[in-house]
Amino acid sequence: MFYASLKLLHVLAIVVWIGGMVFAHFFLRPAALQLPPPQRVPLMHAALQRFFAAVLVCIGVVLVTGLWMIGRVAKDSVQAGLSFAMPLDWMIMSVLGLVMMAIFGHIRFALFKRLTRATAAQDWPAGAAALGSIRTGVSVNLALGALIIAAAVLMT
Ligand code: HEM
Repeated sequence: MFYASLKLLHVLAIVVWIGGMVFAHFFLRPAALQLPPPQRVPLMHAALQRFFAAVLVCIGVVLVTGLWMIGRVAKDSVQAGLSFAMPLDWMIMSVLGLVMMAIFGHIRFALFKRLTRATAAQDWPAGAAALGSIRTGVSVNLALGALIIAAAVLMT
């Protein structure tokens, strides 16, 4: 029951992170493109600020629950006198998950800061450029996220 609760929290945090990226990328951005830059850039900044704060919490939950599950299975194996080897799908998830988190770190702490500065200075071309870079990072993370979910679901 405890293990299942960890997995539930893990998956719920992933739903918020991946679902938010899908919404921003495929629905919010195309709709916002219809606005002129002085309205679009502040709108995207305000939306992304809220979303990125939630992603930071989700990453904390994903990391803690993921590592906890690995630790628990490893401990149970050792206590049963068996050796513990990480299954391949868990390995793929852990490595690619850390890559996704590093990319998010770059988006949040480098690119988003650039967007914040441009928005404060009302420098719309710089703001649009920062949004373009954020979009590239989000596309990569979406692709990695889809790959991880495919590995987690198909390789069991
Ligand atoms: C460093 C980061 C991560 C670690 C250490 C980790 C670890 C784990 C572990 C140990 C499980 C339990 C698997 C089982 O009981 O069969 C799990 C489940 C799962 N994880 Fe992760 N994970 C990480 C990141 C991610 C990411 C980034 C995603 C998606 C983009 C993801 C998606 C899933 C899904 C969908 C499951 C449920 C799989 C199933 O029950 O079939 N995880 N994770």
